[in-house]
Amino acid sequence: YNILVLHGPNLNMLGIREPGVYGTSTLASIEERLSNLAQALGIRLEFLQSNHEGVLIDRIHEAFGTKDGILMNPGAFTHYSYALRDAISSVQLPVVEVHLSNIHKRETFRHTSVIAPVAVGQIAGFGAQSYELGLLALHRFLEERGE
Ligand code: DQA
Repeated sequence: YNILVLHGPNLNMLGIREPGVYGTSTLASIEERLSNLAQALGIRLEFLQSNHEGVLIDRIHEAFGTKDGILMNPGAFTHYSYALRDAISSVQLPVVEVHLSNIHKRETFRHTSVIAPVAVGQIAGFGAQSYELGLLALHRFLEERGE
């Protein structure tokens, strides 16, 4: 499988950014852990982090016909980007939404995900491990779908 891994705004600051909430792992170390898992599963990954909504949307469109699924931490866009949500609906690719923190036990505005209704599912609260759990879930989903 070919999987696109998208990281939304401010995730480039992991390691520095609010370590009490998001942990001390950097994005580079998260990607390294994901790459190791992907190799074991026989998955090819491509990574993109962007602070810009339109850049993420463009990349989702490009994934149409070339990727089998998307693993995504949309960052704060999770809570209000109908444009990102519509981009996912447009390409009809399975998306697994991941969050480092458990968004459901944080501020009220983080309890809503406008992405969740167009995702296969959501994994939140396991820190850097959320990404690995998300990749495993997406892999299993694709296998069971039989592609
Ligand atoms: C986050 C949670 C979001 O509410 C926040 O805006 C982020 C990170 C997470 O991974 O826990 O940027 O998506």
